[in-house]
Amino acid sequence: MRKFAVKSFGCQMNVYDAERMAEALAAEGMGTADEADADVIVLNTCHIREKAAEKLYSEVGRIAARSREQGGRKPVIAVTGCVAQAEGDEILRRAGAVDLVVGPQAYHRLPALLKRQAAGETGIVDLDMPAESKFGKLPPRARRAPSVFLTVQEGCDKFCAFCVVPYTRGAESSRPLRAILAEAEALVEGGAREITLLGQNVNAWRDPEDAACDFGALMRAVAAMPGVERLRYTTSHPRDVTETMIRAHAEIPELMPYLHLPVQSGSDRVLAAMNRKHDRAFYYDLVARFRAARPDLAITSDFIVGFPGETEEDFAATLGIVEDIGYAQAFSFKYSPRIGTPAAEREDQLDEDVKSERLARLQAAISASALAFNRQSVGRQCDILIERRGRHPGQWIGKSPWLQSVVVEQESLSPGDLVRVDLVRAGPNSLEGRIVTAESGKHGKA
Ligand code: 5AD
Ligand code: SF4
Repeated sequence: MRKFAVKSFGCQMNVYDAERMAEALAAEGMGTADEADADVIVLNTCHIREKAAEKLYSEVGRIAARSREQGGRKPVIAVTGCVAQAEGDEILRRAGAVDLVVGPQAYHRLPALLKRQAAGETGIVDLDMPAESKFGKLPPRARRAPSVFLTVQEGCDKFCAFCVVPYTRGAESSRPLRAILAEAEALVEGGAREITLLGQNVNAWRDPEDAACDFGALMRAVAAMPGVERLRYTTSHPRDVTETMIRAHAEIPELMPYLHLPVQSGSDRVLAAMNRKHDRAFYYDLVARFRAARPDLAITSDFIVGFPGETEEDFAATLGIVEDIGYAQAFSFKYSPRIGTPAAEREDQLDEDVKSERLARLQAAISASALAFNRQSVGRQCDILIERRGRHPGQWIGKSPWLQSVVVEQESLSPGDLVRVDLVRAGPNSLEGRIVTAESGKHGKA
């Protein structure tokens, strides 16, 4: 039996894509293996920030070197994901060890392409973005896990001045409601209790078969399914927030009190230059409306520091937003010029050391905010969904409704258990919980 390994980099959508590719290969009778024993290695790449391509080439070099050392045959190497889409056949030219290059909208063809490769074809590149979506061509979901991702929307039409996503993932497109519900059902049958709806602009989702059915309605439909005990979604764009989506946080008990709403910068000048299509006041107003619907909402964001032309005053406005919003957590990045994006052409690029210094200050502010958020959780009781063992024997780690990692001491647990805990201590990255009762927190659902 041929064996494969998939190695994924980057965002949650890549994690999802990697799972679906693995399922597609397994459906062809292939087995999984560690990278060192695999006949086929899929490198599912990310292009969002710098050095993605370099990382890919060093990864390919490492695989080729290892197979030489082991004296075995070089495994078949397939490059998928956003670097595949962005670099195309350049990858074959630069890395002779790569056999296939397959874009993120064409990976349903991976099994067929591997067959062509096995039959002797070389230089296979498939970057097609077919009108008909890959989802209908993939085998049904086979993943068995308590917490799973489900892609409902892909692509981006926003064209932020720094971002490659509109080019690598293509235009915004939504999957039909019935396809999403069918996939959710299969995931629940496989043991899922928590579903995270994924999309580059997840809240731009609209049922392609019914324009009146928006993202709020989708959340309602998924949450209503028997067995779905927790619902999450990511990533939302401020411009696509709707009233039904905000109301969902007040009305759907399964919907967890958590919102990832990237703002990128606190400065109106920078927001305009980034083409984010909203200003700071608009964002503050959204946050106030969400919090009115769900006062305990955990809000998180992405930030970019050192966008071309960013002044110290602009950056101070970003620190100000962190202070004002009280984020539960946030990702922050140094601006990285991406070829083909408008911001990369600008002449007012900042020095690397200015970016590094601002990033350090921003990350200190975010850590302080995360710690404050976690501290105000102490004394609360909540359910945690057990995911994995902790570092010490007898410890398990689960997720709170606010997506905090909570460590509990209790041997007799397993992944997928929902247990009620008292939150007793907080650090910046996790909390300590004490179990009240096991197996609780169901909202009276089957
Ligand atoms: N440089 C730095 N960060 C970026 N992101 C997207 N493009 C870039 C870039 N060119 C960040 C944004 C986005 C997150 C997924 O990655 O903050 O929200
Ligand atoms: Fe990139 Fe902006 Fe689209 Fe997000 S909204 S994927 S940052 S272009």
